[in-house]
Amino acid sequence: MAEVVLDKVFKRFGNVTAVKDFNLQIHDEEFMVFVGPSGCGKTTTLRMIAGLEEITEGTIKIGERVVNDVPPKDRDIAMVFQNYALYPHMNVYQNMSFGLRLRKTPKAEIDRRVREAAQMLQIEHLLERRPRELSGGQRQRVALGRAIVREPKVFLMDEPLSNLDAKLRVEMRASIAKLHRRLGVTTVYVTHDQVEAMTMGTRIVVMKDGLVQQVDSPINLYDKPINKFVAGFMGSPAMNFLVGTVQDGRIKGTNFDIKPDAELARKLQKHSGKKVYFGIRPENLGLRGDTSIPEQDNTIKATIEVVEPLGAETILIASVDGDQTLVARVDAHARVVAGDRVELLADPAKMQAFTLEDERNIRFD
Ligand SMILES: Nc1ncnc2c1ncn2[C@@H]1O[C@H](COP(=O)(O)OP(=O)(O)O)[C@@H](O)[C@H]1O
Ligand SMILES: [Mg+2]
Repeated sequence: MAEVVLDKVFKRFGNVTAVKDFNLQIHDEEFMVFVGPSGCGKTTTLRMIAGLEEITEGTIKIGERVVNDVPPKDRDIAMVFQNYALYPHMNVYQNMSFGLRLRKTPKAEIDRRVREAAQMLQIEHLLERRPRELSGGQRQRVALGRAIVREPKVFLMDEPLSNLDAKLRVEMRASIAKLHRRLGVTTVYVTHDQVEAMTMGTRIVVMKDGLVQQVDSPINLYDKPINKFVAGFMGSPAMNFLVGTVQDGRIKGTNFDIKPDAELARKLQKHSGKKVYFGIRPENLGLRGDTSIPEQDNTIKATIEVVEPLGAETILIASVDGDQTLVARVDAHARVVAGDRVELLADPAKMQAFTLEDERNIRFD
């Protein structure tokens, strides 16, 4: 078991800086997720930890040891990739044991590890099969098994579920989380999928353009996003943003006038007269007369554009001030139809405000 520390790590490819000043301490036994849009530097960072990519600047430690110049095979890590190429001519047992055989691990020890991993992954009955005789999910389990039998200090996983269909992804998500609880091995898991990040990570690193935006627990990222990017990236449907003007601790537009809780109202005073982004999540909006959100000092006049009944809830897509859009998650029994003029209420405690200039969350000023 080991902690992993990245200290002022940079990666440049020619004149592209893929990773900028990456600082992070991953605790022993932690499940750390890197999430962000394609091209933000997740894979590059993971590959630097693995030793597959040279570090341009900075230090990486695994356990007590600086590994900058340690070759991948001596880092005591195991990787699982999106393209988990299994050897087609080998059966599952041979695929899983291949790395150990290369390392001349004794036969009995190999057998113990393969059978234990196979049991954990529920693929014991598949050990004699070739990869082409397996489903996508089973193949992904074999790829995981191949990493587990190495008994590494750290697991590095790069979008390992991207090739699976949605249902299988949900299943495998739970399997990997369970496996992590059972093995307690420090894990770094890369994904572009914020749902995967939220459901799996003990902590999450949100990245954009090679820069770490925020490192936090899933719930803190969701409730206390440091900037508009994080706020908009985590959560589905995404947080709504309306541009409004600050006046007397309130945020106003032509058809909305909202008063946040006292804390944010106070922080907004410095922005008086300025435009800001008002941020509110779809589930923190309600229809006047059909919500427990306080009605006072709080109104957004909107026109319903689309009603999407999902059974458990209904998604409303509405327009405000002509060209701004709001998405609201309301009770499944809400009686509204496209074209209705409605009043939406926003939960004052859940409101966020971001500057137009650097998009930082004004709550944290
Ligand atoms: N070998 C390489 N040579 C040049 N640029 C690269 C190389 N690998 C990655 N990059 C660039 O570095 C950035 C980060 O890439 P990557 O780490 O793969 O992002 P992610 O995994 O988050 O999608 C991108 O702009 C990508 O084009
Ligand atoms: Mg990648």
